Amino acid sequence: MTPVIIGRATLYCGDAYNIRPQLGFHDADVADPPYRFRAEGGGRYRKARPNMDRITDEALHRGFDMAIVNPLLCGAAIVFAHNDQLAELLRLVQGQFHRHALCVWQKTNPQPVANKHYRPDVEFYVHAWNRGYHPSGTLAELMRVSRISSPRLAARFDHPTCKPDALMSKIIANAAGTSICDPFMGTGSTGVAAIRAGKRFTGIERDPRYFATAVERIATAVAELERMAA
Ligand SMILES: C[S@@+](CC[C@H](N)C(=O)[O-])C[C@H]1O[C@@H](n2cnc3c(N)ncnc32)[C@H](O)[C@@H]1O
Repeated sequence: MTPVIIGRATLYCGDAYNIRPQLGFHDADVADPPYRFRAEGGGRYRKARPNMDRITDEALHRGFDMAIVNPLLCGAAIVFAHNDQLAELLRLVQGQFHRHALCVWQKTNPQPVANKHYRPDVEFYVHAWNRGYHPSGTLAELMRVSRISSPRLAARFDHPTCKPDALMSKIIANAAGTSICDPFMGTGSTGVAAIRAGKRFTGIERDPRYFATAVERIATAVAELERMAA
């Protein structure tokens, strides 16, 4: 388990469930884990969402084991969850953290897919914290709803579920403290935002292709910061 270290970032290629417990306490765990949702169907709109096939091929629709959200390992946890796993996540944080808030990323350009359901115009995340790790940021940053377009990053970073920089920067501004861990880092969107905010970042990703992209993106963010400081 030798990490790649770039500036204040430490990056592990491997399994989050094995590695995260060994990394000790971080001020905040910020996780965008695989969502659990029904990825079949979509009717005539399905072909407008080729990413959906990729998500099922890579088993990114089967959810995650919530035991990884552990208040002994973090002062705050900011965790995305699909509608189908949200109630379970809320029950978990209610028992284990001091307070929590349900936050929403509202997409201003949602996909057309309805699939006998609502359009996918919002994604939810829960911010749970213990005493001493309350949400931080300016009044503008402390809004629970972020209205941000979905930037179609899949092609740019070759990953089906990349989160936008603007959203991750807002979330990092809300995370109290100086150390952030993302156990499901994908292409490193959390890491880029954390490094830009001057925080220490630890990331884990099991897929070597996404890990390589994360290393490249985070190295670029570290280099930019160093240039600005010079
Ligand atoms: C929803 S994506 C995260 C995308 C990321 N937020 C981004 O902007 O690129 C979830 C990621 O978790 C990874 N993953 C799934 N199970 C994992 C595990 N057990 N350990 C480490 N990574 C895992 C997947 O390969 C995928 O890249």
